[in-house]
Amino acid sequence: MLERKQALMICLIIATVFYIVYQKTMNYDIFGLPIPKPHPLAFHRESVDLSDKLFTYQLNLSYFEKEFPALQSYNCTLLIDKKDFCHSANTKPLFILSIKSYPASFNRRAALRKTWAKEKEISRYLMKPLFLIAASPSQKQMNLVADEDKAFKDILLWDFMESHHNLSLKERCFLEWLFDNCQKAEFIFKGDDDGFVNPKALVKHVRNTANASQILHGALQRYSTVMRSGKYRVSNSIFPYQKYPSFLSGGGFIFPGGHIPALYAVSMRLPVFPLDDVYFGFLSLAAGLTFRHDKKFYVFGMEDKTCLYKEALFVHGITTEKLLQVWRDFQEKKC
Ligand SMILES: *[C@@H]1O[C@H](CO)[C@@H](O)[C@H](O)[C@H]1NC(C)=O
Ligand SMILES: *[C@@H]1O[C@H](CO)[C@@H](O)[C@H](O)[C@H]1NC(C)=O
Ligand SMILES: *[C@@H]1O[C@H](CO)[C@@H](O)[C@H](O)[C@H]1NC(C)=O
Ligand SMILES: *[C@@H]1O[C@H](CO)[C@@H](O)[C@H](O)[C@H]1NC(C)=O
Repeated sequence: MLERKQALMICLIIATVFYIVYQKTMNYDIFGLPIPKPHPLAFHRESVDLSDKLFTYQLNLSYFEKEFPALQSYNCTLLIDKKDFCHSANTKPLFILSIKSYPASFNRRAALRKTWAKEKEISRYLMKPLFLIAASPSQKQMNLVADEDKAFKDILLWDFMESHHNLSLKERCFLEWLFDNCQKAEFIFKGDDDGFVNPKALVKHVRNTANASQILHGALQRYSTVMRSGKYRVSNSIFPYQKYPSFLSGGGFIFPGGHIPALYAVSMRLPVFPLDDVYFGFLSLAAGLTFRHDKKFYVFGMEDKTCLYKEALFVHGITTEKLLQVWRDFQEKKC
């Protein structure tokens, strides 16, 4: 009798151990509640010294925390996620067209979807558009964005508020999303929603450029001057130098998916700089990446000729009307 009790006891213990191990491996605790998953690379932001070929720049975290505390401490939280966005590409090389947009830019997004921001296969590459949006204080707009995503399934929405400086959070959180969900992307184009993009030209560009998948492509801003007033103002304490290290204009550029882990890792470590394109430049420098300038990224506009658009990779600052017109001209083969 005693032996049977003991055997039962042993069975019970083994079953319990199995249950706990099972729950743990499935990321649930013994009460069946989900265990919060520590991110593979938890925050450890710190001051850093970055060097390019000519200069060394120190970013001192304590000044960043004083001036831009939310930028340093925000934890990326998505209100609209896309877990399967990259799986649907199967074996095709994926080229993401990511577009920074605001909740209120409904018309712009509608025009982009009618023109270049379409899911499409171009010489093997699967081009997939994805709008990167943060929150608006208007609940009405937020509801409309949610409806829009139900119809088009091409939106990532974070819970931080849209603002000029918060664009750097969009940069950082998008890298985190790519790291978590889309390391297999071959290339990522990233640009503003007031831009013209020529997807065919982008594909041609990466196919015809040597080592395209090892470098960043865009309009290089060489040692541009640090502004101390106006919209792009930066204080002396967070950046006590006169020039920035070279970076790619944030209007539109391409980076290879192979660099996602390196960029994400440094984004967890570096102070978050309040200007998004300069910030991405710091991340690239810290990750040891190289840029390739190409004059076909037109960041300051371009001569107004449809045929030039055919050759351009990207043109910044185009009105919705102009975009639709250029696209119509393309369809009618005016070039
Ligand atoms: C950052 O600045 C603070 C305040 O001036 C200073 O105490 C600290 O040593 C600096 N950190 C580094 C890494 O230089
Ligand atoms: C972000 O998450 C970390 C770790 O869970 C936490 O310590 C920190 O307070 C969070 N930051 C904010 C702003 O909620
Ligand atoms: C930036 O986002 C953070 C987090 O949501 C928010 O606290 C802050 O107010 C935002 N900045 C602006 C200027 O809206
Ligand atoms: C491409 O990369 C290889 C190996 O890193 C290098 O030897 C070669 O010079 C590169 N080609 C160009 C055009 O940059």
